[in-house]
Amino acid sequence: MVTLQNQSTAPNTPGDIKMLIVCFSHSGNTREIANQIKNLTGADIFEIQPIDAYPESYNAVVAQAKKEISGNFKPKLKTLTGIVENYGIIFIGSPNWWSTLAPPVATFLSVNKLEGKTIIPFITHEGSRMGRSAADIKKYCPGSTILEGLPIRGSNVTGALRDITSWLQNLGFNKR
Ligand SMILES: Cc1cc2nc3c(=O)[nH]c(=O)nc-3n(C[C@H](O)[C@H](O)[C@H](O)COP(=O)(O)O)c2cc1C
Repeated sequence: MVTLQNQSTAPNTPGDIKMLIVCFSHSGNTREIANQIKNLTGADIFEIQPIDAYPESYNAVVAQAKKEISGNFKPKLKTLTGIVENYGIIFIGSPNWWSTLAPPVATFLSVNKLEGKTIIPFITHEGSRMGRSAADIKKYCPGSTILEGLPIRGSNVTGALRDITSWLQNLGFNKR
């Protein structure tokens, strides 16, 4: 179990800081990382689900995502609000889609009020690492403290435990 070592990771949330993992995953990689973070930190977890599921076919989802991202389209989500209010630290997980966040994550961040909260990104990818996603999170959440994100190769999610553990420790979480 990893616990928060000091308050410096969450300057605006004194006392008992609750942690939430918010993630979207199309093919399971980001969900797998979210579950590993949950196991290590004890954080709660919430999975973003678009009302209209993306197509299973790789070519079809790649084409749809390209269109949505270039048009700045924000897909509707099954549950959009009433999720983050009680939490001070929010992990945000997304696959890297065309070098940025998947559109359902963009919808979530553009609507939810995350001012004063600490955001910790994690991104799964196949070569582009975080891409522009940290910069895009900053644009959606100008009043949040954004800590160093973790890029994990999607094809290596089952071997990522050591990287996740040292990332959390570098952020000030303490393994006990
Ligand atoms: C629509 C789409 C766009 C993608 N764009 C990129 C990209 O620009 N750079 C990259 O490294 N990987 C890209 N990938 C690969 C995914 O980021 C990677 O497979 C990720 O782990 C998938 O996460 P998931 O299983 O949680 O959906 C893309 C995949 C899809 C489906």
